[in-house]
Formats: sequence, structure tokens, C-alpha cells
Amino acid sequence: MSHILAISGGEPVKKTPFPVWPVYDDTERQALLEVLESRIWWRTPGTRVLAFEQEFAAFHQAKHGIAITNGTAALEVILAALGIGAFDEVIVPDFTFIATASAVLFTGALPVMVDITPDTYCIDPQMAEEAITPRTKAIIAVHMGGHPADLDALREIAKRHGLYLVEDSAHAHGSEWRGHKVGSIGDAGTFSFQASKLMTAGEGGMIVTNDDDIERKARSIHDCGRMPGEWFYSHFIYGSNYRMTEWQGVVLSQQLKRLPAQSLTRTRNAEFLDKMLPQIEGITPQQLDPRCTVNGHYAYIFHYNKQSFAGIPTEKFIQALNAEGIPTQASYPPLHDLDVFKSGEYRKRLTPEIAKAVHGFLKKPFPNTSKAAWETVWLPQPVLLGSMEDMEQVVEAIKKIQDNAKELV
Ligand SMILES: Cc1ncc(COP(=O)(O)O)c(C=O)c1O
Repeated sequence: MSHILAISGGEPVKKTPFPVWPVYDDTERQALLEVLESRIWWRTPGTRVLAFEQEFAAFHQAKHGIAITNGTAALEVILAALGIGAFDEVIVPDFTFIATASAVLFTGALPVMVDITPDTYCIDPQMAEEAITPRTKAIIAVHMGGHPADLDALREIAKRHGLYLVEDSAHAHGSEWRGHKVGSIGDAGTFSFQASKLMTAGEGGMIVTNDDDIERKARSIHDCGRMPGEWFYSHFIYGSNYRMTEWQGVVLSQQLKRLPAQSLTRTRNAEFLDKMLPQIEGITPQQLDPRCTVNGHYAYIFHYNKQSFAGIPTEKFIQALNAEGIPTQASYPPLHDLDVFKSGEYRKRLTPEIAKAVHGFLKKPFPNTSKAAWETVWLPQPVLLGSMEDMEQVVEAIKKIQDNAKELV
């Protein structure tokens, strides 16, 4: 093995690529051809999206599934279905993709950020409870990287305060909390099928719920306010067009069939990394809560302590890792630091009264989010579909960088 870091011109540890994503085979090809030739490309007269909704809901142990154009829209629809809007507040973790908060703004409500736990990187239930005000209507938990948020605590808090609990499960297809699939442990959950996700049709989303009333409202909102069995041009409530196409439905049905086996491979590989990486000083994997019985692993996340790597910053470490042939994906910046919140632009979505109020939470320190944002390294999920040898090379690459970190100072 070369002892010169690849970033400095040495041989990379990994010379062969990791598995490519997305995975597909003749089943997708055949199914797409069938949709093409059927000439039924949209869901309303079609059967493919409907079938996928039922398959996905059953897989996630939920009564209902509503397919949506994407994961952001799924959040928008569910919040609207829960009646959230002007004057309301929704508690969200500071560490997440913008969609979790932008969907709240879309309804006209105020997203209130709270910090995460330092070990699982999911919303801190105690801080969520402290942020509750008379205006609070819901908490959105994000299952970060596939690891469920503390659903026991969050459910209990939501129940005690009469709030809705929404699970943003964009990262968590197949994840389980105490042996139950995520999504409908709270009042409703949303999923994304965007290109990097654990199942994909390029874009796509899903709402799951066990509540018949929520399902009825969400389904209507996603289809222009229509109601089942009623005349096509009758519109009963505010809605819009969030319908998935038959192309997406048919691809996602095939993707779902592959998920359980892929999930087993990701788990096996993550377990190996969980064992090996803590042996490297300065590397701490995202902690697995024993109540998380399956982590779907949208990413493998670990904390990087630069002190154990001659002080080289996270960004430089990531560049060195990429040069060794190990791909990474970016972590999320803290929500409260994003331009839309810093500039005050978000206030345009709020009622004048709420818009001019002081939103003190934006000035709070979010130390755990800050660490997660700037000091974690994310291995994208296709890496976890690799072989045991691939995983050994991930470990070897990190050790190599540590052993030679002084070169990069
Ligand atoms: C946590 C989280 N929520 C919501 C979304 C939105 O999903 P989409 O990209 O399908 O709109 C994403 C993903 O991109 C996400 O990572």
C-alpha cells in the first residue's frame, strides 16, 4: 500500500468503484414498456400508482399510502391535511434538509427549530417540549440518515400537549422502531423517492397514515380537492395537483421489491463499520439507539474529530477521503443559518402579525446541530451496498489519512 496520500499524488486505497445507483434490471424495463404501451400514463384511470400505494403502505405497516410528486410536496400536503396554517407553529429539528421547514412555511405557519441529540442527530425531545407554545400544532421528527428519532418520547409529548407528530421519513424506508416500521408510528409520515434515496423513480413521495380522516383529507388535497366517487369537476376543499405518474408508480413497485435485501446488505456493512471505526481515534459513528431495530441507512454518518488528525479540518479530510476513492455526500448546514431565515425572507410567508414578531429561537445556539453540520462525514447509501472488502478499504483509507495527516497540515 502506498503511504503517500492520494490527495498528494499517491496511489488511492480504493481503485475499483462502489456499486452504482440507482439499481434497476429488466423488471423496471418491462414494467415501463407495459405502461408505455397501455397508453395510460396518469394515475387517475391507471392502476399502477394505486397498486404501489397499497404495497408501500403494507410494507410500512400503515393502513393508507398516498403517492405524491416528491417528498417536499408530501410534507406540504400532510401539513395542509392536518389543518396547519397561518398563526400556527410547527417544531422541526435544526438539522435537516430545508424541505422539513419550507413545507411549514408553505402552509403559512412558522417553523420553530430546536437542537438535536448529540449521538443520533435526531430532534431532541426535551428541547422540542420546551419549544411548545399555545400556537404549536405539530412536531416534525426527521429520521436522520435512516435512524429513527426517539418516537417513544415524541409520541408521549405530542399526546400530552395535543399536537400532531409527523415523521419525515425521507431517509428511512424500511427503518424500524421497536420492531415497527417508521412512518405511521406518529399521526402520519412522509417519504421521498428522489434520486439519491433508498428507492427511487428520480422523483416521488409518499404519505402514510393509519388515520382514515387524515387519509381522506390528504388524498383530496393531493387531487385538487376532489372526493372519491364524486363527479370529476367537483372540488370540495382547497387542493392542488400532487399526483404521481404511472411511470413512477411502476418503477417504485420494482424498487420496493429490492429494498429488503438491500437493507440487509446495508445493515451488515454498517455493523462492520460500527465495529471497526471506533477503533480509530477521533472517529465516532452515529449512535444506534437499541430501540432502533432497523436503520434503513440512507447514509453512514460518523463524527470526525480533527484533533486526532493533526488538526486538519473536516473539509480537507473529506477531500483526502474522496481522493482515496471513498465517496461522500454533504452534511446539512443548520436550518437557522440558511439565507432564507437569516435575511428575514421567510417572514413573507407569515401573517403580518407573526411576521413582525421576534423569533428568538433563530438566535439560540444549536451546538449539537453545529457539530453535526460541520464535523460529520456522510458515506452515501450505495457505498453500503458494497462488499466486505469495500468496507475494509473504507477503514483502511481513514487509517491511512490519520497516519499521514501531518502531510496535509
Ligand atoms: C429530510 C428530508 N426531508 C424531505 C426531503 C424532500 O424530499 P424530495 O427531495 O423528494 O422533495 C428530503 C430530501 O431530499 C430530505 O432529506
